[in-house]
Amino acid sequence: MAKIKLAPSILSADFARLGEQVAEVTRAGADYIHIDVMDGHFVPNITIGPSVVAAIRPHTNLPLDVHLMIEAPERYLKPFADAGADILTVHIEACPYIHQVVEQIKRLGVKAGVSLNPGTPPDRLTDILPSLDLVLVMTVNPGFSGQGFIEDMLDKIARLRAELDKRGSTAELEVDGGINAGNAPQVVQAGGRVLVAGSAIFNSQQTAAQALQRMRDSLD
Ligand code: DX5
Ligand code: ZN
Repeated sequence: MAKIKLAPSILSADFARLGEQVAEVTRAGADYIHIDVMDGHFVPNITIGPSVVAAIRPHTNLPLDVHLMIEAPERYLKPFADAGADILTVHIEACPYIHQVVEQIKRLGVKAGVSLNPGTPPDRLTDILPSLDLVLVMTVNPGFSGQGFIEDMLDKIARLRAELDKRGSTAELEVDGGINAGNAPQVVQAGGRVLVAGSAIFNSQQTAAQALQRMRDSLD
């Protein structure tokens, strides 16, 4: 099995020390920096825009994994790509013309991901799957970090894993929401290969580096 990738979500970081915290998890062996973009429409919360992505860029050489929880994301793909995003993930629920949006992302020279809310069935992805570099399964309803992992999503992860394997797809299967060292092994067993974690990394009793190592150890 490919090495499991860990993607700390900076939504739980100290925003006043963002560069420092990004550098810390980079040194500690993170694989991606997960950046949660929220617009107050698609989800109730508002977070960050392209200028913050650009500000983070010099603090890490890791891929910036930008999760767009916004309506009409096609309006903002270029600004985020220009800011230094390496992966742009949009929500299928926000994109009636998902094929066009994925093509647009690829034309910008970045990797294209599509995410599913907990209530969205995995077969919504069937027709777009061959074009994707990444599939993101939400295991909480997006909007906030620190929510509880929805166990029922393990079955969805497993179904998508089976579908990707059946097609010989190299698309990464990423899982986001409520992941910690306790449930990470289950997520991997179901078929997740990139694990996003916010509060488990940045809001634990330990340093972010120690928390990241703890999650890595839970997978050995
Ligand atoms: C939720 C975000 C997540 C969030 C994860 O809407 O997409 O990336 O920051 O945080 P935890 O790991 O605390 O659920
Ligand atoms: Zn996210």
